[in-house]
Amino acid sequence: MSSKLLISPMTLGSLKLKNRIVMPPMVIWQSDESAEVKNAHLEHYNDRSGPGLMIVEATTVAQEGRLASTQLGIFDDRHIPGLKKLALVIQKTGAVSGIQIHHAGGKASLETNYGLMPLVPSREGVPGEKECRELTVVDIKRIIRDFAAGAERAVAAGFEIIELHGAHGYLGSQFLSPKTNLRKDEYGGSLENRQRFILEVYKAVTKVVGSRAQVYFRLGVADKDGLNLEEGIDTVKQLESLGMKLVNVSCGIGFPEGIAAPESPYSDLMHLAIEVKKHTSMTVIGVGGVIAPEMAESLVESGGIDLVAAGKAHLADPQWTQKIVTERVDEIDTCLQCGPCRWFKDPSKCPVGIKRRKNAGKLKKLV
Ligand SMILES: Cc1cc2nc3c(=O)[nH]c(=O)nc-3n(C[C@H](O)[C@H](O)[C@H](O)COP(=O)(O)O)c2cc1C
Repeated sequence: MSSKLLISPMTLGSLKLKNRIVMPPMVIWQSDESAEVKNAHLEHYNDRSGPGLMIVEATTVAQEGRLASTQLGIFDDRHIPGLKKLALVIQKTGAVSGIQIHHAGGKASLETNYGLMPLVPSREGVPGEKECRELTVVDIKRIIRDFAAGAERAVAAGFEIIELHGAHGYLGSQFLSPKTNLRKDEYGGSLENRQRFILEVYKAVTKVVGSRAQVYFRLGVADKDGLNLEEGIDTVKQLESLGMKLVNVSCGIGFPEGIAAPESPYSDLMHLAIEVKKHTSMTVIGVGGVIAPEMAESLVESGGIDLVAAGKAHLADPQWTQKIVTERVDEIDTCLQCGPCRWFKDPSKCPVGIKRRKNAGKLKKLV
C-alpha cells in the first residue's frame, strides 16, 4: 500500500474512528419471529474486526415494516438486551458501533411481516395486485414515532451511531420517488412534499437522541427511473440544513446507470457519492464495488470520498480490513462479485466464504 490515509484515524464529532473503512449494513437473516439478536449475529460481527465503523444490518422499527421473517427488530424493549450484546461485540473489535434502522414500506409482504398489511405512500404507485394499504397521515406520524422509539432503544443498547434507512427502494425511497409517491396531500407531489417524510424522521430522531449518538441517513440519491440525482442532492442539502453531519450515499429504487464516465475505475454507485461530495461539506460515505484495497485507498486519496464502505468484500473475507491494516493484502480472499449474496440475498451462499469455511474445517481435523 502506497499511502496510509485509508488506515489513518479520523474523528466524527466526538467519535474517533481508527481508520476510514466502513462495514456497511448487510442483513444476514438469522433472526426469527422474535426479531431478536441471535448468537449467529454476535459471531458474524465479531469475526469482522477491522473497520473503523461497523453498521449493523437493516433492523426494523415496526412489525408491519419487516422485509423478511428473519429480520432483526428494534420495535420492542425486549430487543434491547440482545442489541446491547451486539453493540458491545462491535465495540470490542475497536470499531465505532452503528445500527441501521429501517421500514420496508411496500417491500414488506403478508408473509414477511407475520400477516400485517404492508403500508405504501400511494396505492397508485404500486404495480399489480400486491396486497397493501395506502398510508394515512395518522399512520405516517406513527411510523415517524416508531423511528424515534427505535432510535431511543438503539441508544439504550449503547450504539454510538444511528443510520436511518432512506435508500434501496424502502419506505424513505418510496416517499422520495415520483413513481411510487403519487399522494395528493402534503407528503406527495412536489419534491418538497416528497422529502417531508425523510426530514420529519430526521427531526424526530435527532430530537429524542440529542447528543447521545450521531444520527444520519443512508440516502438513495437517485433511482433507476424516478428520483433524479439533482433531486437527491437537494434532499442531502435539506438534511444538511437540519444539522446532519454525515451521509451514506447509495441508490434509491434500482440502480441509475451512466453516472460514471466510461474510463472511471469506480462504479456508478460510487459516483453518486463522488457527485454528492461536490455539493456538501458533510462527511460522505461512498459504497459500491470496492473489492481491491487499492481502490479504497484511491477513493480517499483522490476520489473525494471521506469513508469507504466495503460490503461484499467483508462477506468474502471477514478479515478484509485487518489484512489491509497489517499489510497482508496478498492474503485477501477476494470477492468474486458473482451474485448469490447480492443485495439482501443470502450472504452464507458466498462461494469464497464456503471454501474458507471448508478449509478451516479440514485444518481443524488435522490438528
Ligand atoms: C447480503 C447483503 C445484504 C445487504 N443488506 C443491506 C442492509 O441491510 N441495508 C442496506 O442499506 N444495504 C444492504 N446491502 C447493500 C450493502 O450495504 C452495499 O451497499 C452493497 O452491497 C454495495 O456495496 P459492495 O459493492 O461493497 O458490496 C446489502 C448487501 C448485501 C450483499
